[in-house]
Amino acid sequence: MNILLLGGGGREHALAWKLAQSPSLETLYAAPGNPGIAQHATLVDLDAADHRAVLDFCIRHSIGLVVIGPEAPLVDGLADNLRTMGVSVFGPNKKPAQLEGSKGFTKDLCRRANIPTAAYVRVTSKDGAVAALDDFALPVVIKADGLAAGKGVIIAETRDDALEALDTMFSGAFGAAGEEVVLEEFMTGEEASFFALTDGSAILPFGSAQDHKRVGDGDTGPNTGGMGAYSPARVLTPDLEAQVIERIVKPTVDTLAAEGIPYSGILYAGLMLTSEGPKLIEYNARFGDPECQVLMTRFDGDLVELLLAVAQGRLAEQGPVTLAERTALTVVMAANGYPGTPEKGGAITGLAAAEAQGAKVFHAGTADKDGTLVAHGGRVLNVTATGDSVQAAQAAAYAAVDAIDFPTGFCRRDIGWREIARETA
Ligand code: AMP
Ligand code: GLY
Repeated sequence: MNILLLGGGGREHALAWKLAQSPSLETLYAAPGNPGIAQHATLVDLDAADHRAVLDFCIRHSIGLVVIGPEAPLVDGLADNLRTMGVSVFGPNKKPAQLEGSKGFTKDLCRRANIPTAAYVRVTSKDGAVAALDDFALPVVIKADGLAAGKGVIIAETRDDALEALDTMFSGAFGAAGEEVVLEEFMTGEEASFFALTDGSAILPFGSAQDHKRVGDGDTGPNTGGMGAYSPARVLTPDLEAQVIERIVKPTVDTLAAEGIPYSGILYAGLMLTSEGPKLIEYNARFGDPECQVLMTRFDGDLVELLLAVAQGRLAEQGPVTLAERTALTVVMAANGYPGTPEKGGAITGLAAAEAQGAKVFHAGTADKDGTLVAHGGRVLNVTATGDSVQAAQAAAYAAVDAIDFPTGFCRRDIGWREIARETA
Protein backbone atom coordinates (compact mmCIF):
# COMPACT_ATOMS: atom_id res chain seq x y z
CA MET A 1 0.00 0.00 0.00
CA ASN A 2 1.08 3.58 -0.66
CA ILE A 3 0.91 5.95 2.28
CA LEU A 4 1.05 9.73 2.51
CA LEU A 5 2.43 11.15 5.76
CA LEU A 6 1.82 14.84 6.47
CA GLY A 7 4.19 16.79 8.69
CA GLY A 8 7.90 17.41 8.96
CA GLY A 9 9.03 17.18 12.57
CA GLY A 10 10.52 14.59 14.91
CA ARG A 11 7.08 13.07 15.49
CA GLU A 12 6.71 12.42 11.77
CA HIS A 13 10.25 11.04 11.48
CA ALA A 14 9.40 8.52 14.20
CA LEU A 15 6.14 7.63 12.41
CA ALA A 16 7.94 7.31 9.05
CA TRP A 17 10.60 5.07 10.60
CA LYS A 18 7.94 2.70 11.98
CA LEU A 19 5.67 2.80 8.93
CA ALA A 20 8.69 1.89 6.80
CA GLN A 21 9.19 -1.30 8.83
CA SER A 22 5.80 -2.66 7.79
CA PRO A 23 5.77 -5.42 5.13
CA SER A 24 2.55 -3.99 3.68
CA LEU A 25 4.11 -0.63 2.81
CA GLU A 26 4.90 -0.09 -0.85
CA THR A 27 5.79 3.60 -1.20
CA LEU A 28 5.77 6.14 1.61
CA TYR A 29 5.33 9.75 0.52
CA ALA A 30 5.83 12.61 2.96
CA ALA A 31 5.04 16.32 2.80
CA PRO A 32 6.91 18.41 3.65
CA GLY A 33 9.09 15.81 5.41
CA ASN A 34 12.69 16.48 6.45
CA PRO A 35 16.11 14.90 5.77
CA GLY A 36 15.46 12.19 8.38
CA ILE A 37 12.07 11.32 6.92
CA ALA A 38 13.70 11.27 3.47
CA GLN A 39 15.59 8.12 4.56
CA HIS A 40 12.24 6.31 4.51
CA ALA A 41 10.00 8.31 2.20
CA THR A 42 9.76 10.16 -1.08
CA LEU A 43 9.37 13.82 -0.17
CA VAL A 44 6.71 15.68 -2.11
CA ASP A 45 5.85 19.34 -2.41
CA LEU A 46 2.31 19.42 -1.10
CA ASP A 47 0.61 22.02 1.08
CA ALA A 48 -1.61 20.36 3.71
CA ALA A 49 -3.74 23.52 3.74
CA ASP A 50 -4.65 22.91 0.08
CA HIS A 51 -7.15 20.09 0.54
CA ARG A 52 -7.88 19.80 -3.18
CA ALA A 53 -4.18 19.33 -3.94
CA VAL A 54 -3.83 16.66 -1.24
CA LEU A 55 -6.86 14.82 -2.61
CA ASP A 56 -5.55 14.99 -6.18
CA PHE A 57 -2.21 13.61 -4.99
CA CYS A 58 -3.97 10.72 -3.24
CA ILE A 59 -5.86 9.79 -6.39
CA ARG A 60 -2.85 10.08 -8.68
CA HIS A 61 -0.58 8.01 -6.42
CA SER A 62 -3.15 5.41 -5.28
CA ILE A 63 -2.77 6.41 -1.63
CA GLY A 64 -4.36 3.78 0.64
CA LEU A 65 -3.84 5.73 3.86
CA VAL A 66 -3.11 9.34 4.79
CA VAL A 67 -1.46 9.82 8.19
CA ILE A 68 -1.86 13.35 9.51
CA GLY A 69 0.87 14.20 12.04
CA PRO A 70 0.18 17.75 13.31
CA GLU A 71 -3.01 19.30 14.70
CA ALA A 72 -3.52 22.23 12.34
CA PRO A 73 -4.73 20.20 9.31
CA LEU A 74 -7.06 18.21 11.59
CA VAL A 75 -8.65 21.30 13.09
CA ASP A 76 -8.84 22.66 9.54
CA GLY A 77 -10.98 19.70 8.38
CA LEU A 78 -8.54 17.97 6.03
CA ALA A 79 -9.59 14.52 7.31
CA ASP A 80 -13.28 15.26 6.56
CA ASN A 81 -12.52 16.29 3.00
CA LEU A 82 -10.41 13.21 2.30
CA ARG A 83 -12.90 10.81 3.94
CA THR A 84 -15.77 12.27 1.97
CA MET A 85 -13.91 11.27 -1.18
CA GLY A 86 -13.29 7.73 0.07
CA VAL A 87 -9.66 8.12 1.18
CA SER A 88 -8.70 6.32 4.43
CA VAL A 89 -7.28 8.79 6.95
CA PHE A 90 -5.58 8.41 10.31
CA GLY A 91 -6.70 11.44 12.31
CA PRO A 92 -10.03 12.87 13.49
CA ASN A 93 -12.51 14.99 11.58
CA LYS A 94 -12.80 18.71 12.23
CA LYS A 95 -15.59 18.56 14.82
CA PRO A 96 -14.08 15.91 17.13
CA ALA A 97 -10.65 17.56 16.63
CA GLN A 98 -12.18 20.43 18.60
CA LEU A 99 -10.95 18.40 21.58
CA GLU A 100 -7.65 20.09 20.77
CA GLY A 101 -8.91 23.05 18.78
CA SER A 102 -11.10 24.52 21.50
CA LYS A 103 -10.38 24.26 25.20
CA GLY A 104 -13.95 25.38 25.93
CA PHE A 105 -15.33 22.54 23.77
CA THR A 106 -13.37 20.01 25.83
CA LYS A 107 -14.39 21.55 29.15
CA ASP A 108 -18.07 21.50 28.14
CA LEU A 109 -17.73 17.87 27.07
CA CYS A 110 -16.19 17.04 30.46
CA ARG A 111 -19.16 18.68 32.14
CA ARG A 112 -21.70 16.76 30.02
CA ALA A 113 -19.90 13.44 30.49
CA ASN A 114 -18.97 13.98 34.13
CA ILE A 115 -15.23 13.69 33.42
CA PRO A 116 -12.91 14.83 36.23
CA THR A 117 -11.21 18.11 35.31
CA ALA A 118 -10.53 21.57 36.80
CA ALA A 119 -13.55 23.83 37.47
CA TYR A 120 -13.84 26.44 34.72
CA VAL A 121 -15.79 29.19 33.07
CA ARG A 122 -15.77 30.30 29.41
CA VAL A 123 -15.66 34.04 28.76
CA THR A 124 -15.78 36.12 25.58
CA SER A 125 -14.95 39.60 26.87
CA LYS A 126 -12.53 41.17 29.27
CA ASP A 127 -15.38 42.52 31.43
CA GLY A 128 -16.96 39.10 31.62
CA ALA A 129 -13.62 37.58 32.54
CA VAL A 130 -12.92 40.14 35.28
CA ALA A 131 -16.36 39.50 36.77
CA ALA A 132 -15.75 35.73 36.72
CA LEU A 133 -12.27 36.06 38.23
CA ASP A 134 -13.66 36.52 41.74
CA ASP A 135 -15.01 32.98 41.72
CA PHE A 136 -11.47 31.52 41.45
CA ALA A 137 -8.77 31.18 44.09
CA LEU A 138 -5.18 32.12 43.19
CA PRO A 139 -3.24 31.02 41.29
CA VAL A 140 -5.77 30.96 38.47
CA VAL A 141 -5.20 29.45 35.02
CA ILE A 142 -6.07 31.56 31.98
CA LYS A 143 -6.22 29.90 28.55
CA ALA A 144 -6.81 31.13 25.03
CA ASP A 145 -9.58 28.91 23.68
CA GLY A 146 -8.03 28.04 20.31
CA LEU A 147 -4.75 26.66 18.98
CA ALA A 148 -1.86 28.79 20.23
CA ALA A 149 1.13 26.50 19.63
CA GLY A 150 1.43 25.70 23.33
CA LYS A 151 1.75 29.36 24.31
CA GLY A 152 -1.85 30.18 25.16
CA VAL A 153 -1.78 29.15 28.83
CA ILE A 154 -0.93 31.58 31.62
CA ILE A 155 -0.82 30.64 35.29
CA ALA A 156 -1.49 33.89 37.16
CA GLU A 157 -0.20 34.00 40.73
CA THR A 158 -1.82 37.34 41.60
CA ARG A 159 -4.98 39.17 40.59
CA ASP A 160 -2.84 41.79 38.85
CA ASP A 161 -1.09 39.08 36.82
CA ALA A 162 -4.51 37.69 35.90
CA LEU A 163 -5.76 41.11 34.76
CA GLU A 164 -2.63 41.58 32.69
CA ALA A 165 -3.02 38.13 31.12
CA LEU A 166 -6.64 38.89 30.24
CA ASP A 167 -5.53 42.20 28.70
CA THR A 168 -3.00 40.33 26.57
CA MET A 169 -5.52 37.73 25.42
CA PHE A 170 -8.34 40.11 24.63
CA SER A 171 -6.03 42.57 22.88
CA GLY A 172 -5.43 39.94 20.22
CA ALA A 173 -1.99 38.60 21.19
CA PHE A 174 -3.20 35.12 20.24
CA GLY A 175 -5.30 36.21 17.30
CA ALA A 176 -8.59 34.40 16.87
CA ALA A 177 -7.40 31.74 19.35
CA GLY A 178 -7.76 34.33 22.14
CA GLU A 179 -11.16 35.77 21.25
CA GLU A 180 -12.59 33.34 23.74
CA VAL A 181 -10.88 32.53 27.02
CA VAL A 182 -11.24 29.76 29.60
CA LEU A 183 -10.61 30.52 33.28
CA GLU A 184 -9.68 27.44 35.25
CA GLU A 185 -9.08 26.31 38.76
CA PHE A 186 -5.37 25.58 39.36
CA MET A 187 -4.76 21.88 39.99
CA THR A 188 -1.76 20.48 41.84
CA GLY A 189 -0.09 17.14 41.28
CA GLU A 190 2.28 15.44 38.88
CA GLU A 191 1.58 15.58 35.15
CA ALA A 192 1.57 12.54 32.88
CA SER A 193 0.31 11.81 29.40
CA PHE A 194 -1.76 8.86 28.30
CA PHE A 195 -2.35 7.79 24.71
CA ALA A 196 -5.16 5.69 23.27
CA LEU A 197 -6.09 4.73 19.74
CA THR A 198 -9.78 4.78 18.97
CA ASP A 199 -11.93 4.39 15.88
CA GLY A 200 -14.88 5.98 17.62
CA SER A 201 -15.97 2.83 19.40
CA ALA A 202 -13.08 0.49 20.30
CA ILE A 203 -10.28 1.89 22.49
CA LEU A 204 -6.72 0.54 22.50
CA PRO A 205 -4.25 1.95 25.04
CA PHE A 206 -1.00 3.10 23.44
CA GLY A 207 1.14 3.79 26.49
CA SER A 208 2.10 6.69 28.68
CA ALA A 209 4.86 9.30 28.77
CA GLN A 210 6.12 12.31 30.67
CA ASP A 211 7.77 15.29 29.07
CA HIS A 212 9.78 18.31 30.17
CA LYS A 213 8.14 21.50 28.93
CA ARG A 214 10.53 24.11 30.38
CA VAL A 215 13.63 25.04 28.42
CA GLY A 216 16.12 24.84 31.31
CA ASP A 217 17.53 22.21 33.64
CA GLY A 218 15.50 21.68 36.78
CA ASP A 219 12.33 22.63 34.84
CA THR A 220 13.16 26.34 34.77
CA GLY A 221 12.72 29.07 32.17
CA PRO A 222 10.04 29.53 29.53
CA ASN A 223 7.76 26.80 28.22
CA THR A 224 8.65 25.00 24.99
CA GLY A 225 7.02 22.35 22.84
CA GLY A 226 8.93 19.81 24.96
CA MET A 227 12.67 19.40 25.61
CA GLY A 228 12.60 15.67 26.21
CA ALA A 229 10.34 12.80 27.18
CA TYR A 230 10.33 9.24 28.37
CA SER A 231 7.95 6.32 28.25
CA PRO A 232 6.44 4.63 30.18
CA ALA A 233 5.45 7.11 32.89
CA ARG A 234 5.62 4.73 35.83
CA VAL A 235 3.79 7.24 38.02
CA LEU A 236 0.71 6.29 36.00
CA THR A 237 0.32 2.90 37.66
CA PRO A 238 -1.89 0.20 36.12
CA ASP A 239 -4.59 1.13 38.64
CA LEU A 240 -4.45 4.83 37.73
CA GLU A 241 -4.38 3.96 34.03
CA ALA A 242 -7.54 1.90 34.45
CA GLN A 243 -9.18 4.91 36.13
CA VAL A 244 -8.09 7.17 33.26
CA ILE A 245 -9.64 4.82 30.70
CA GLU A 246 -12.87 4.33 32.66
CA ARG A 247 -13.46 7.89 33.86
CA ILE A 248 -11.84 10.01 31.17
CA VAL A 249 -11.09 8.31 27.83
CA LYS A 250 -14.13 6.02 27.52
CA PRO A 251 -16.73 8.68 28.40
CA THR A 252 -15.03 11.03 25.92
CA VAL A 253 -15.14 8.50 23.07
CA ASP A 254 -18.67 7.34 23.91
CA THR A 255 -20.10 10.85 24.29
CA LEU A 256 -18.66 12.09 20.98
CA ALA A 257 -19.95 8.96 19.22
CA ALA A 258 -23.41 9.37 20.78
CA GLU A 259 -23.47 12.99 19.67
CA GLY A 260 -22.77 11.98 16.08
CA ILE A 261 -19.17 13.20 15.87
CA PRO A 262 -17.12 10.04 16.53
CA TYR A 263 -13.41 10.56 17.17
CA SER A 264 -11.03 8.45 15.08
CA GLY A 265 -7.27 8.62 15.60
CA ILE A 266 -4.97 8.93 18.58
CA LEU A 267 -6.33 10.57 21.69
CA TYR A 268 -3.59 12.19 23.77
CA ALA A 269 -4.77 12.97 27.28
CA GLY A 270 -2.72 15.43 29.35
CA LEU A 271 -3.40 14.46 32.97
CA MET A 272 -2.87 15.88 36.42
CA LEU A 273 -2.49 13.16 39.04
CA THR A 274 -4.19 14.93 41.93
CA SER A 275 -4.91 13.72 45.46
CA GLU A 276 -8.47 13.11 44.22
CA GLY A 277 -7.30 10.93 41.35
CA PRO A 278 -6.36 11.66 37.73
CA LYS A 279 -7.97 14.73 36.18
CA LEU A 280 -7.90 15.85 32.58
CA ILE A 281 -5.82 18.98 31.85
CA GLU A 282 -6.33 18.93 28.11
CA TYR A 283 -6.64 16.73 25.05
CA ASN A 284 -4.54 16.71 21.91
CA ALA A 285 -5.86 15.18 18.71
CA ARG A 286 -2.49 13.82 17.53
CA PHE A 287 0.61 12.11 18.87
CA GLY A 288 2.77 14.24 21.16
CA ASP A 289 6.07 15.61 19.97
CA PRO A 290 8.51 14.35 21.33
CA GLU A 291 6.27 11.78 23.10
CA CYS A 292 5.67 9.97 19.79
CA GLN A 293 9.39 9.35 19.43
CA VAL A 294 9.57 7.37 22.68
CA LEU A 295 6.28 5.56 22.04
CA MET A 296 7.40 4.46 18.55
CA THR A 297 10.74 3.33 19.98
CA ARG A 298 8.85 1.02 22.37
CA PHE A 299 6.18 -0.04 19.89
CA ASP A 300 6.61 -3.56 18.66
CA GLY A 301 4.10 -4.20 15.90
CA ASP A 302 2.92 -3.33 12.42
CA LEU A 303 2.11 0.39 12.48
CA VAL A 304 0.55 0.38 9.01
CA GLU A 305 -1.89 -2.37 9.97
CA LEU A 306 -2.79 -0.65 13.23
CA LEU A 307 -3.32 2.86 11.85
CA LEU A 308 -5.30 1.42 8.93
CA ALA A 309 -7.53 -0.51 11.36
CA VAL A 310 -8.23 2.78 13.15
CA ALA A 311 -8.92 4.61 9.88
CA GLN A 312 -11.27 1.89 8.64
CA GLY A 313 -13.16 1.38 11.91
CA ARG A 314 -11.78 -2.12 12.49
CA LEU A 315 -9.91 -1.49 15.74
CA ALA A 316 -11.99 -4.04 17.67
CA GLU A 317 -10.34 -6.80 15.56
CA GLN A 318 -6.86 -5.80 16.73
CA GLY A 319 -5.10 -7.39 19.71
CA PRO A 320 -3.59 -5.17 22.40
CA VAL A 321 -0.73 -2.86 21.36
CA THR A 322 2.63 -4.34 22.36
CA LEU A 323 5.10 -1.88 23.83
CA ALA A 324 8.54 -2.96 25.03
CA GLU A 325 8.97 -3.01 28.81
CA ARG A 326 12.23 -1.10 28.47
CA THR A 327 12.16 2.65 29.03
CA ALA A 328 12.70 4.86 26.02
CA LEU A 329 14.03 8.36 26.62
CA THR A 330 14.54 11.17 24.15
CA VAL A 331 16.64 14.32 24.52
CA VAL A 332 15.73 17.28 22.34
CA MET A 333 18.70 19.14 20.88
CA ALA A 334 17.48 22.65 20.10
CA ALA A 335 19.01 25.59 18.25
CA ASN A 336 20.38 28.45 20.36
CA GLY A 337 17.64 31.01 20.91
CA TYR A 338 14.79 28.49 21.19
CA PRO A 339 11.97 28.94 22.30
CA GLY A 340 12.50 32.52 21.10
CA THR A 341 14.06 32.98 17.68
CA PRO A 342 16.23 29.95 16.94
CA GLU A 343 19.52 30.34 15.12
CA LYS A 344 19.23 28.74 11.68
CA GLY A 345 21.91 27.18 9.52
CA GLY A 346 24.30 25.81 12.16
CA ALA A 347 26.13 22.69 10.93
CA ILE A 348 25.52 19.31 12.57
CA THR A 349 27.80 16.28 12.38
CA GLY A 350 28.26 13.04 14.29
CA LEU A 351 24.83 11.47 13.79
CA ALA A 352 26.33 8.18 12.58
CA ALA A 353 28.60 8.08 15.64
CA ALA A 354 25.57 8.66 17.88
CA GLU A 355 23.61 5.87 16.23
CA ALA A 356 26.61 3.54 16.33
CA GLN A 357 26.14 3.66 20.11
CA GLY A 358 22.66 2.15 19.72
CA ALA A 359 20.66 5.36 19.90
CA LYS A 360 18.16 6.51 17.28
CA VAL A 361 18.40 10.13 16.16
CA PHE A 362 15.14 11.56 14.84
CA HIS A 363 15.27 14.73 12.78
CA ALA A 364 12.93 17.43 14.06
CA GLY A 365 14.14 20.65 12.45
CA THR A 366 16.98 19.95 10.04
CA ALA A 367 17.71 20.78 6.42
CA ASP A 368 20.20 19.58 3.87
CA LYS A 369 22.32 22.50 2.65
CA ASP A 370 24.56 21.45 -0.22
CA GLY A 371 25.18 18.08 1.36
CA THR A 372 25.66 19.40 4.90
CA LEU A 373 23.07 18.81 7.60
CA VAL A 374 22.08 22.12 9.22
CA ALA A 375 19.67 23.36 11.89
CA HIS A 376 16.38 24.52 10.41
CA GLY A 377 14.00 25.01 13.32
CA GLY A 378 13.76 25.40 17.08
CA ARG A 379 13.84 21.77 18.06
CA VAL A 380 16.41 20.19 15.77
CA LEU A 381 17.17 16.58 16.80
CA ASN A 382 15.59 14.01 19.14
CA VAL A 383 18.26 11.69 20.44
CA THR A 384 16.47 8.58 21.64
CA ALA A 385 17.75 5.55 23.55
CA THR A 386 16.37 2.71 25.63
CA GLY A 387 17.42 1.10 28.89
CA ASP A 388 16.26 -1.24 31.61
CA SER A 389 15.74 1.80 33.84
CA VAL A 390 15.22 5.49 33.19
CA GLN A 391 18.72 6.06 34.50
CA ALA A 392 20.18 3.59 31.97
CA ALA A 393 18.12 5.06 29.12
CA GLN A 394 19.24 8.56 30.12
CA ALA A 395 22.92 7.54 30.22
CA ALA A 396 22.63 5.96 26.76
CA ALA A 397 20.84 8.99 25.31
CA TYR A 398 23.42 11.47 26.65
CA ALA A 399 26.32 9.30 25.45
CA ALA A 400 24.81 9.62 21.98
CA VAL A 401 24.19 13.37 22.43
CA ASP A 402 27.87 13.76 23.29
CA ALA A 403 28.84 12.08 20.02
CA ILE A 404 26.99 14.81 18.08
CA ASP A 405 28.75 18.00 17.11
CA PHE A 406 26.22 20.84 16.93
CA PRO A 407 28.00 24.01 18.12
CA THR A 408 24.97 26.29 17.68
CA GLY A 409 22.67 23.99 19.63
CA PHE A 410 21.93 23.07 23.22
CA CYS A 411 19.97 20.51 25.23
CA ARG A 412 18.83 19.92 28.78
CA ARG A 413 21.08 17.57 30.73
CA ASP A 414 18.45 16.26 33.15
CA ILE A 415 15.71 14.62 31.07
CA GLY A 416 14.03 11.99 33.25
CA TRP A 417 15.18 13.48 36.55
CA ARG A 418 11.87 12.96 38.33
CA GLU A 419 11.76 9.23 37.61
CA ILE A 420 15.49 8.82 38.26
CA ALA A 421 15.05 10.44 41.68
CA ARG A 422 12.38 7.83 42.43
CA GLU A 423 14.47 4.96 41.02
CA THR A 424 17.47 5.88 43.14
CA ALA A 425 15.57 6.87 46.32
P1 AMP B 1 -2.31 22.89 28.29
O1 AMP B 1 -1.85 23.58 27.03
O2 AMP B 1 -3.77 23.03 28.57
O3 AMP B 1 -1.77 21.50 28.43
O4 AMP B 1 -1.54 23.64 29.47
C1 AMP B 1 -0.13 23.75 29.46
C2 AMP B 1 0.40 23.48 30.83
O5 AMP B 1 -0.18 24.41 31.77
C3 AMP B 1 0.04 22.11 31.36
O6 AMP B 1 0.94 21.13 30.94
C4 AMP B 1 0.13 22.36 32.85
O7 AMP B 1 1.48 22.35 33.28
C5 AMP B 1 -0.40 23.75 33.00
N1 AMP B 1 -1.83 23.75 33.30
C6 AMP B 1 -2.85 23.85 32.43
N2 AMP B 1 -4.03 23.82 33.07
C7 AMP B 1 -3.77 23.72 34.37
C8 AMP B 1 -4.57 23.66 35.55
N3 AMP B 1 -5.91 23.74 35.49
N4 AMP B 1 -3.94 23.54 36.73
C9 AMP B 1 -2.60 23.51 36.81
N5 AMP B 1 -1.79 23.57 35.76
C10 AMP B 1 -2.35 23.67 34.54
N1 GLY C 1 5.03 17.65 23.85
C1 GLY C 1 3.76 18.24 23.97
C2 GLY C 1 2.90 18.17 22.80
O1 GLY C 1 3.15 17.49 21.82
O2 GLY C 1 1.87 18.84 22.81
